Amino acid sequence: MLATTTKVLVRNARDQDIPAVAEIDTEAFAATGTMETPETFQLRLRTFPDGFLILIAENEIAAYGCSEKWLTEREPGLNENPATTHHIDGKILCITAMAVKSNFRGRGYGLLMLDKLIEMARRENCSQIIAETTHAQGLFLKRGFKKTQTRTEREVLVDVMSLTQELHGKK
Ligand SMILES: CC(C)(COP(=O)(O)OP(=O)(O)OC[C@H]1O[C@@H](n2cnc3c(N)ncnc32)[C@H](O)[C@@H]1OP(=O)(O)O)[C@@H](O)C(=O)NCCC(=O)NCCS
Repeated sequence: MLATTTKVLVRNARDQDIPAVAEIDTEAFAATGTMETPETFQLRLRTFPDGFLILIAENEIAAYGCSEKWLTEREPGLNENPATTHHIDGKILCITAMAVKSNFRGRGYGLLMLDKLIEMARRENCSQIIAETTHAQGLFLKRGFKKTQTRTEREVLVDVMSLTQELHGKK
């Protein structure tokens, strides 16, 4: 439930947003050693701009979500070059990273970002969305994702969350 009435805007990311995105990413993922470089985010934006969203609240970037389209499901790696992993005809949308700045968490922004990514996947005619997570399973479960796999990555348990049949069934 939204704990605030602050107006928020979700839009496609732009080049100048990348430093703020990388900062949120570092804050969110440094503890697990899974943060990525600004160059990786820049390349994702260039390769698949429609798949890269940011959320603005109180005049600042409060969240981001980025993605790629894949032809086949596989294990994602950190800082992969999207020029080799993204495919224009891919039907599997992989949410490569998504995070909310810590002081904006718990306001529904994570769920809103996920909803916008799901809408985008529908527009792109994707048949599946996958995301990896160590802690945010609850967020994905709220939108009908199922846990399909658990792996150990850098000694940390990672769940693969997947949304398939629900993708074109609702909305
Ligand atoms: C996960 C994350 C994006 C959630 O953002 P948020 O804005 O705080 O989430 P919301 O306020 O939209 O929460 C919506 C629901 O998702 C669930 N949820 C959110 N974060 C959760 C978490 N870390 N663990 C389990 N469930 C979570 C809650 O059930 C919440 O429902 P509620 O309001 O009924 O309690 C944020 O905590 C974050 O950036 N974490 C670090 C990065 C990360 O884990 N990214 C996701 C995987 S790539």
